[in-house]
Amino acid sequence: MDTKLIFQDAAGFAIPLLAVFAVDVSVGKDADALPVLLATSDAITDAASKVLASGEFKASLGETLLLHAPDGLKAQRLLIVGLGKAKSLSVNEVRKGAGAAVRAAKPRNVREMAVAFPEDHALSDEHLEALPCTLTARSLVEGAELAERDWDTYKSDRQDMSVASLTLIARETEKTTTEEIQKGFEEGLIIAGAQNFTRALVNEPGNVLTPTELGSRAAAMCEEVGLDCEVFSTEKLHELKMGAFWAVAKGSAQPPALIVMTYEPKLEKGESLPQDAPVLGLVGKGITFDTGGISLKPPDGMDKMKYDMAGAGAMIGAMRAIAQLKPKVKVIAVVCSAENMPDGKAFKPGDVVTAMSGKTIEILNTDAEGRLVLADGLHYAKTLGCTHLINAATLTGACVVALGMINAGVFSNDEATWGKFEEAMKVSGEKFWRLPCTDDYKEQIKSQIADIMNTGGSRWGGAITAAMFLKEFVEDTPWVHLDIAGCAWNEEQKPWLPKGPSGIAVRSIVEWVRRFDG
Ligand code: BES
Ligand code: MN
Ligand code: ZN
Repeated sequence: MDTKLIFQDAAGFAIPLLAVFAVDVSVGKDADALPVLLATSDAITDAASKVLASGEFKASLGETLLLHAPDGLKAQRLLIVGLGKAKSLSVNEVRKGAGAAVRAAKPRNVREMAVAFPEDHALSDEHLEALPCTLTARSLVEGAELAERDWDTYKSDRQDMSVASLTLIARETEKTTTEEIQKGFEEGLIIAGAQNFTRALVNEPGNVLTPTELGSRAAAMCEEVGLDCEVFSTEKLHELKMGAFWAVAKGSAQPPALIVMTYEPKLEKGESLPQDAPVLGLVGKGITFDTGGISLKPPDGMDKMKYDMAGAGAMIGAMRAIAQLKPKVKVIAVVCSAENMPDGKAFKPGDVVTAMSGKTIEILNTDAEGRLVLADGLHYAKTLGCTHLINAATLTGACVVALGMINAGVFSNDEATWGKFEEAMKVSGEKFWRLPCTDDYKEQIKSQIADIMNTGGSRWGGAITAAMFLKEFVEDTPWVHLDIAGCAWNEEQKPWLPKGPSGIAVRSIVEWVRRFDG
């Protein structure tokens, strides 16, 4: 999609479809109050007035209403998009609203559209803080770019429904400068571009996206955006004594890939980072297909396990955005990619393996493979000099049982680092719910014959025992662990998003990294 930003009066812009936003201002006994348009000009308010007065349109979030040949406007169609209750309006609703506009346009064969920047001057003072203009511009672009994708590239009768061009139309007001809007617009393009890159990786079937292929795609992306990238395989795993990662990898005909991407901030002349400047480590679980191994999964839903590399996908996407946003902090991403297969060469329940850190692990279940590859990835990131770690993984079904598909799980061993993630979530709009990983859970992963075992022994607290396992390899390094098993794949279509890969965690990870800049 060719996405542009212009500054002018939206009413005078000739375009096949112009989208504008409306909010629901009804409260309590005022339940019949009509929706209010966050319009940029009187001409647009006038064009929409009759249909809004009818009460047919409630402005609920994602609701759309289309008018043809709107009076007094140059646009051929006016699309009114609901953002829900004015009281709860935030940039998260704007992101979804922009998405709903694009998804309403697509099946109507609209190839060119415009979106009018929502201006909240129509609302009472209590909402004036709701839409900071940089973040609003960014969210509009994010929502539109994410919504534009359909996952139909493997369909031979695919019809091209893409919106070829989208113009964001804004105005300079007392509250909004062109520079602020421009900044948000550009950030939105970078961040949504990265998230879509991740989604495309996650969408790929396991026979296409092998560990080697994931390595090639990461390397090609790095080349494009100017990141350093190295892709290693079996030999390097042996050299580094990554016994946990290798245990998972060795049952597959596909060789593993250890992908290391490095971002070094470019500093001005005479500028230098302090000696104790943080080095951030991004570690991703990249199981390109998880059969469960010898502890084979049941057939129902096993096809979904192609997205068991969504954590790796998130880190690769995040690095793409980081390379373009250029924060002044060093970032190293480590992706551990393998296929978990049952085979004569596969690892088995009862095996004891030695991780890179030297810790011995008794394998109780070969389906708990994610924590094994991450154990070596996290330890390796520390040896590369990382002072702070974040990892993302479709790690446990137990996390989905605990939180469903609305919130992903987050764990941390350090309050300051967690605080940065909490701030990041406020900007990203992604939902993570913190779960505990305190040492009183440690007992549950003690093994009879080795240092630790790779399950909690029972089903109880499965997301937590997985986190406790990772913590053994992170040790005292400040760390955030994201369990995205329930949120990596959208099982339901939304007015603003299709079914399929979500690209969860990219926005929060990027924002977390930016919190270490300066
Ligand atoms: N990849 C799965 C977790 C998963 C489940 C991801 C559902 C996405 C959706 C992981 O490797 C796994 O199989 N975990 C086991 C661990 C158990 C054997 C301790 C699980 O959650 O059942
Ligand atoms: Mn598994
Ligand atoms: Zn898995």
